Amino acid sequence: MKLIPGPASIELGEKIAELSGLERVNVAYKVFPDGENYIRLEGSVQKAHVAIVQTTSAPQDTNLMQLAFIAAAAKRNGARKITAVIPYLAYARQDKIFLQGENANIETVAAMLNTAGVDEMITVNVHAEGALARFSFPALNLTAIPLLAEHFVRRGFKGAFALAPDKGAMYIAEQAQQVLGGGAGHLEKQRDRQTGQTTQTGGSLDVKGQIVIIFDDIISTGGTIVGAARILLEQGATQVFAACVHPLLIGDAEKRILDAGVKEIVGTDSVPRRASKVSLASLISNSLRAKQSG
Ligand code: R5P
Repeated sequence: MKLIPGPASIELGEKIAELSGLERVNVAYKVFPDGENYIRLEGSVQKAHVAIVQTTSAPQDTNLMQLAFIAAAAKRNGARKITAVIPYLAYARQDKIFLQGENANIETVAAMLNTAGVDEMITVNVHAEGALARFSFPALNLTAIPLLAEHFVRRGFKGAFALAPDKGAMYIAEQAQQVLGGGAGHLEKQRDRQTGQTTQTGGSLDVKGQIVIIFDDIISTGGTIVGAARILLEQGATQVFAACVHPLLIGDAEKRILDAGVKEIVGTDSVPRRASKVSLASLISNSLRAKQSG
């Protein structure tokens, strides 16, 4: 197997290659003055099973096109099989049609990658598992929640309460709880499909006097974490932390979260940010190793 670190995930790709002992094939890339992307493989992929590591956070359309171009270039240059490693899968939140006239955009992304030559995909904590059913090729979903929880255990937070900001994320809090060994629970969150506006309520949580870590798959605008932190602090939590797999942290999200009383934000390098304190390299390299021996 050979590994291509895509332009959006160079550091993570290099770490994975190093940990897995895989030969790296670098990509030369540039953006033309009119905005079009250019890529060129700088090494041979002839007859190789190739893993391309490319996250698709913003600018997601550029990152997706680069991934498609790299996959197509690899196939054109003789790659035997292509595994796309997409730590953050863009458009996974658009996997369903809610209003007439909409498209399930993840399905179009899947078709594009398939046409480009991708044979299988590895992603991490995809927002909705249902999104993977839209892919015509095998799609594996890894979870980084245990890695995030282990980070907190190493820092002395064994026994902290694991909180999911909504019922749908309760499985995430339960995965964290298995490592942290404390309590777990969830808030209630409702979303208005027209405006996108959300409202949160506390329910019957007992977090008084506890250190609480909010676990979520994505932090985007930070609104969910800000709302959750307010409820937790009102209910007597002593300290509140925020942990997520994909720290998109759009605009001033980080500041808003810290201003709401959250002590610290911890994310992974699925999206390279200041908060990316936990690396996915070991998780992904184990998965690639299993594929090589399988
Ligand atoms: C939603 O269901 C997700 O799990 C996250 O809670 C959400 O995407 C976070 O978005 P924001 O940071 O904008 O509230």
